[in-house]
Amino acid sequence: MLKISKVTRRFGAKVAVDNVNLEIPAGQMVGVIGRSGAGKSTLLRMINRLIDVSEGSVEFGGLEVSSLRGQSLRDWQCDCAMIFQQFNLVPRLDVITNVMLGRLNRRNTIMSLLQIFSEEEQLLALKALERLDIAQTASQWAQTLSGGQQQRVAIARALMQEPKVILADEPIASLDPRNAKIVMDSLQAINEEQGITVITNLHTLDTARAYCERIIGMSAGRVVFDGTPEQLTTEVARELYGADGLEEAFSEEMTSTSLEAIVPKRKKKKHAELPAGALEAPLASAGLPN
Ligand SMILES: Nc1ncnc2c1ncn2[C@@H]1O[C@H](COP(=O)(O)OP(=O)(O)OP(=O)(O)O)[C@@H](O)[C@H]1O
Ligand SMILES: [Mg+2]
Repeated sequence: MLKISKVTRRFGAKVAVDNVNLEIPAGQMVGVIGRSGAGKSTLLRMINRLIDVSEGSVEFGGLEVSSLRGQSLRDWQCDCAMIFQQFNLVPRLDVITNVMLGRLNRRNTIMSLLQIFSEEEQLLALKALERLDIAQTASQWAQTLSGGQQQRVAIARALMQEPKVILADEPIASLDPRNAKIVMDSLQAINEEQGITVITNLHTLDTARAYCERIIGMSAGRVVFDGTPEQLTTEVARELYGADGLEEAFSEEMTSTSLEAIVPKRKKKKHAELPAGALEAPLASAGLPN
């Protein structure tokens, strides 16, 4: 359980996140939506401790995340992997090394700096790449891959951390609809098969509706909606985005029409009780397209 209590973040006079309270049970797939500037990224960054809270606390399984320091903070950042819109890979390193960098906080720093990885780590990285259906790219420089492939490498790197939680900040915002679907399918499969909690910021309502069992709507730093996709009616969306903002919510590459065409109805999940970190989950069962 991730427990966010009375969390506020200020930047000078600006209140980016305003007194947010949330409880997210293990294994949930959560979409965070809202207009630009609503505070979505700031919220994720505080969970991962890329930035600190101004007030309030973040707890995970009884651990007070918001006050961790040193190695225990690095341990948390391992347990809580982050995926970004711009992938954040090292462009001139091969794919498999990029993935193995996910072990960085779990191992000896000198060994990491020298990029000496054990056979076991190489095998784990290959398995993670296979899981994402891109093992054939292992020896290519990361910068030679398509955006969709790069994001899958970033997800494989996150899996190498053997995380309990994956935070994804607009993971598909730079992708075309086909690659967006592959990436969202991958996150969904990881959530369902390995029971890893996934919290993802999304720009479009439809993606959140299609993939997330719970949707959190933010506006001006506050949580103004917290419910199921079914409860997110057009009226609620109008409240969330404002009458003029509805267009923004539907205007990204993954429009309602394009999504209807490519996204099957949200599957009823329920494998959340599977142990986290089960990288040995059947590689071929993710149902990812080639
Ligand atoms: N480092 C910072 N310094 C100053 N202001 C910031 C900083 N980071 C965020 N903000 C402000 O906090 C508010 C929330 O920003 P945030 O990036 O969390 O929004 P968002 O919902 O992720 O938006 P987007 O959809 O555009 O990514 C915005 O007004 C933003 O300008
Ligand atoms: Mg953002």
